[in-house]
Amino acid sequence: MTVVSVLQDVGESKKRALNRSLLAWYRTNARDLPWRRTGDPYAIWVSEIMLQQTRVETVVPYYERFLSRFPSVHVLAEAAPDEVLTYWSGLGYYRRARMLHDGARHVLEHGGEVPANAEALQEVRGIGRYTAGAIASIAYGEAVPLVDGNVARVLSRWFAVEDDIKSAKGVQRTWAIAEALVSRHEPGTWNQALMELGATVCTPQNPRCLVCPVRTQCQANAEGRQQEFPVAKAKLKPRIERRVALVLRRGERLLFAQRKSEGRFAGMWELPSFIAGVGPDPVKTGQKLASKLGLSALQA
Ligand code: ADE
Repeated sequence: MTVVSVLQDVGESKKRALNRSLLAWYRTNARDLPWRRTGDPYAIWVSEIMLQQTRVETVVPYYERFLSRFPSVHVLAEAAPDEVLTYWSGLGYYRRARMLHDGARHVLEHGGEVPANAEALQEVRGIGRYTAGAIASIAYGEAVPLVDGNVARVLSRWFAVEDDIKSAKGVQRTWAIAEALVSRHEPGTWNQALMELGATVCTPQNPRCLVCPVRTQCQANAEGRQQEFPVAKAKLKPRIERRVALVLRRGERLLFAQRKSEGRFAGMWELPSFIAGVGPDPVKTGQKLASKLGLSALQA
């Protein structure tokens, strides 16, 4: 799926109509958010990482605290990893904090300036296509697209994309549509307007089509099939894991274990635990382990 073939699908007049309606809507409906009051690429980078998998209202106070402690890429790069994690604490998905910190160190090792275009941004550790598109378009006005979950949903409805949205074909198609549509004049505003529409109007359940500024351009709406998009394969069932956590004390001290540097909750400190499968009583096993280590088990 090339940009040229998508552009033919999209059509110049549809593109212009979408651009005009969405940008006009955004000008009067955009939420006033702290990262929308800055052109600093570093601050936009921080906000974009925090906003991944996290709601706007949750992010605002974290963003403000983080930037007052780490106001520049230099300060962040030189901070201790544990302090960075402390400022992220409660926001979840801690790998993001580590990647951001890693990225800041990478920038410092390569001259200290946040790169000014999407291609160079993707050379920075932890910056993928989405984040590069966001920073390049919002901070530097480069006409590059971005696709996150909200944007994928909006585009899949506008163009009734029948491919599974997470499949290689679905991903390729939504990126190609986003590239064909991105405003050449106001790419940052356009990308944020698409995300804003997804977050506030074109929502996963019960989209508010009656107040949508582009409903007359939306193929799913024209066919009354808005709830059918995005097309998604059934999710895998969650795997249930039974774990026993040990509260082990020596005098006034509690024993914590650090997780491996890869995988889920990488590098985090937690109570030591093990998977309690079938077999010997896990509580007794924990108590035996504690006494072997010369520790007292409070609870298991
Ligand atoms: N989600 C992630 N980044 C955003 C932004 N800049 N505006 C609106 N929603 C977003």
